[in-house]
Amino acid sequence: MNNIIEISDLSKSFSAPDGEGKVSVFSDVNLEITKGSSVAILGPSGSGKSTLLNIIGLLDEPTSGTIKVDQKKIIDLPEAEIAEYRNQKVGFVFQSHHLLPSCTVLENVMIPALAGFGELNGEALRCRATDLLNDVGMSHRSSHLPSQISGGEKQRVAVARALINSPSILLADEPTGALDKMNTNNLIDILKQLNEQKGVTLVMVTHSSDGANQMGEAYNLNDGNLDQLR
Ligand SMILES: Nc1ncnc2c1ncn2[C@@H]1O[C@H](COP(=O)(O)OP(=O)(O)O)[C@@H](O)[C@H]1O
Ligand SMILES: [Mg+2]
Repeated sequence: MNNIIEISDLSKSFSAPDGEGKVSVFSDVNLEITKGSSVAILGPSGSGKSTLLNIIGLLDEPTSGTIKVDQKKIIDLPEAEIAEYRNQKVGFVFQSHHLLPSCTVLENVMIPALAGFGELNGEALRCRATDLLNDVGMSHRSSHLPSQISGGEKQRVAVARALINSPSILLADEPTGALDKMNTNNLIDILKQLNEQKGVTLVMVTHSSDGANQMGEAYNLNDGNLDQLR
């Protein structure tokens, strides 16, 4: 039993905009993810990839089904435990960096540690943030503002920020969606390195076939079904 994530019979539907009926996104999705593995999720736009990732990250709720993380059921947790899970257990990287414009690169990386769930603070926090910036090749830009670095660099900072609380799972939703080929390859290399060296389990939604090929496993979400490609 080395699964970090176990998804069973997961279904999600949204109410139709006119309030009549439901629109099913996916149904009866089953997925087991091994601790420390790297998983790509592919699929056409609108197939539910973000919805699936958001449910794993407890940013959204399923209509039915269960998810266990480290053998513990995470659906229907009390609000305080949901907040702690989001802050400590998972790191998120989105297509857009969501860096705070008036905070420096270093401050942006430290921010998730200030939510009060972890022990990290003061000089130890600063050191960890600097180490992570070093891992993503951005320590030389610590005191820059987000407006003073490039798009690819912002995503690298967003990756460092996602890892500040040492999550065991990194959820990346089209992290290279706004990047050119060179920056895409660079970011995927960094994500893969962090996965291999730090053992963080990586679940990445991507349209980049090069990126998907670098992940250990790949799944395709289409027409409400999740199928393993390899
Ligand atoms: N809050 C919402 N309300 C209603 N429908 C939604 C909502 N969020 C997503 N959807 C629908 O669910 C489907 C899957 O969306 P999404 O997960 O964003 O797809 P993907 O990430 O694969 O492009 C789409 O058809 C989308 O319109
Ligand atoms: Mg999406």
